[in-house]
Amino acid sequence: MKINKNAIGIFDSGVGGTSIWKEIVQTLPNENTIYLSDSKNAPYGQKSKEKIIELSIKNTELLLKKGCKMIVVACNTATTNAIKILRKKYDVPFIGIEPAIKPASLATKTNVIGILATKGTLNSDLFEKTSSKIDDEIVVLEQVGEGLVELIENGEIDSVKMTSLLEKYLQPMVVRNVDAIVLGCTHYPYLIKKIREIVGNDIKIIDSGEAVARQTKAILEKHKLSFSGLNEKTNHQFYINQPKENLSSLIKEYKKNITIKELDF
Ligand code: DGL
Repeated sequence: MKINKNAIGIFDSGVGGTSIWKEIVQTLPNENTIYLSDSKNAPYGQKSKEKIIELSIKNTELLLKKGCKMIVVACNTATTNAIKILRKKYDVPFIGIEPAIKPASLATKTNVIGILATKGTLNSDLFEKTSSKIDDEIVVLEQVGEGLVELIENGEIDSVKMTSLLEKYLQPMVVRNVDAIVLGCTHYPYLIKKIREIVGNDIKIIDSGEAVARQTKAILEKHKLSFSGLNEKTNHQFYINQPKENLSSLIKEYKKNITIKELDF
């Protein structure tokens, strides 16, 4: 196999994409990674399509300058608004993430599924296209998770405010008999414990993290970009344009070969 030691570049509007980074390092333990947390500009979800594209280009260019061999857009909002343009503009492979409404529609027995995502994702053409392919019999309850990304960025996952927002967004879904809830934002896997407390154990909670990691592996192999240097140390660099403490605490279980730097980008 051809060896390419360059890193996989990953970016998100903030710290949420670390939920995807964790899946990627689990699936591809020998790969180096560089992660950009654009927390200064979070949330992307309330911004215009043009602004989301501009920020996605800025992040991509920094990762390419750092020599990344492929880019994972670990943000549903950036993927659904900007990935088409990124793919046209740059010749490295891109992996994106979209809300997993198709798997949810295949899993539902009640024919009612819920989706929690940002306004930018739910209003995008790409999401519209994906949801138009869902069986007409299935009711899709769309809910904007307004305020959730900000609280996660501020390290307020376990706050009273978070609980009351989640109750406001999820209880109407429970009342309408959803049996699957799609997490359409990479920040939200950090809320699974709290979501479970509200919706109970019988409702499936579906996110796309594992599928993205599998797809990353497949695309690396397809483009012969994998690095299988078993004896070499892998290296994971994180860059954040806000104070780094919140990011550090979200990945605190990972200690080896990690550097987290504050950088204004
Ligand atoms: N993690 C981003 C996503 O997946 C959050 C978007 C935002 O910053 O609003 O959509």
